[in-house]
Amino acid sequence: MMQHERLLKVLVIGDLGVGKTSIIKRYVHQVFSQHYRATIGVDFALKVLNWDHRTVVLVVLERRSSLKSWRSSGGQERYGNMTRVYYREAVGALVVFDMTRLSTFQAVLKWKGDLDSKVALSNGKAVPAVLLANKCDQRRHGLCPKLPKLENFSREYGFVGWFETSAKDNTNIDAAMTCLVKNIMYVE
Ligand code: GTP
Repeated sequence: MMQHERLLKVLVIGDLGVGKTSIIKRYVHQVFSQHYRATIGVDFALKVLNWDHRTVVLVVLERRSSLKSWRSSGGQERYGNMTRVYYREAVGALVVFDMTRLSTFQAVLKWKGDLDSKVALSNGKAVPAVLLANKCDQRRHGLCPKLPKLENFSREYGFVGWFETSAKDNTNIDAAMTCLVKNIMYVE
């Protein structure tokens, strides 16, 4: 029987240092490093999924540095100014925040808004996005009491799902990606 391939461009967006690169590395290469180096330019990786007996899914995970805009605004972080080109042809996104830093959660809706203003599915609907509360291994330093219930929050703002994740401990990274890819494959 003929197998067919689907190529899916998935973006990983969120503030500086929330763990975007670490999530991609964990998902694709099964590795984690504590060492932090801010991403410069574009970073991407490919994951091959044997989706069903007829379909191979090639997931291209892509993330881009927000450093340029960060520097050009005099050290002030600026959000939501990724170029339209970056978003083009994306069919899904992970929107990531760091459970231990409230400011990164407060930026989530800016990222989601930026995504929805720059890309949509061919039927006009929003591209599926999953919300990730990353670094859940640091929960004891976390913001849990300060966060709204993510179940309600994610539904209210149009995410297709949410997960507490840890790239460090490999918690829910696969589950989150499977949720996203299912939504992409079945909703489109
Ligand atoms: P930028 O390139 O600046 O946008 O950062 P990023 O979002 O790609 O974050 P990155 O993956 O580089 O991670 C930033 C720091 O957080 C690194 O020191 C990572 O080791 C650490 N980190 C990432 N994910 C986790 C996690 O799940 N748990 C813990 N404890 N640390 C994490």
